[in-house]
Amino acid sequence: MEYRLVERISPERLELCLKQLAERINRDYHGKSLVLIGVLKGAFIFMADLARRLSIPVQLDFVRLASYGDRSESCGSVQITKDIELSIEGKHVLVVEDIVDTGITISWYLEYLKGRCPETVRCCALIDKKERRRVEVAVDYVGLNLDSGFLVGYGLDYSEKHRNLPAIYEVIFEDVAPREKTLQGGR
Ligand code: PRP
Repeated sequence: MEYRLVERISPERLELCLKQLAERINRDYHGKSLVLIGVLKGAFIFMADLARRLSIPVQLDFVRLASYGDRSESCGSVQITKDIELSIEGKHVLVVEDIVDTGITISWYLEYLKGRCPETVRCCALIDKKERRRVEVAVDYVGLNLDSGFLVGYGLDYSEKHRNLPAIYEVIFEDVAPREKTLQGGR
């Protein structure tokens, strides 16, 4: 399928967004330490940049979640395909996502983590697509509210491509057939 990329969020705006998020997190967890759990693969760049701006003590870990559905949307069945390795019992935990879309993945994972008895568990997403929610979930720290467009770059992919781009781009599909249009609204 032919497509082109149009920049939506510049590296400078991402930088400002990271600075503001880090300031809030540093303030909220002042005097505490935090376990950051990055959700692979999309969160790997955001997590690295956010972690470097935190002044509180942090431990880092990663989880890989598979959410089954069609190409563009989760369907509600989530599985862990790579688990965290740290114990989170009694600790403050912040789950770091690149994007929350239907909310199915993060909602399931936050509930799952509660079973491991953390002191607190919250989530931080670079991008919140609130209008596409299918399950109620509050994202505690939101970098950007963006409701439309299929986005890539800064960790986000289209068929595993473009994760390495330093800005966030919208994928504009050319000569879109009706069935393919559904891709544009989702991740
Ligand atoms: C994306 C994103 C979230 C999830 C959000 O991951 O990183 O984990 O989808 O969608 P939801 O709110 O509709 O559940 P994806 O499955 O694309 O994997 P990736 O991070 O490896 O690209």
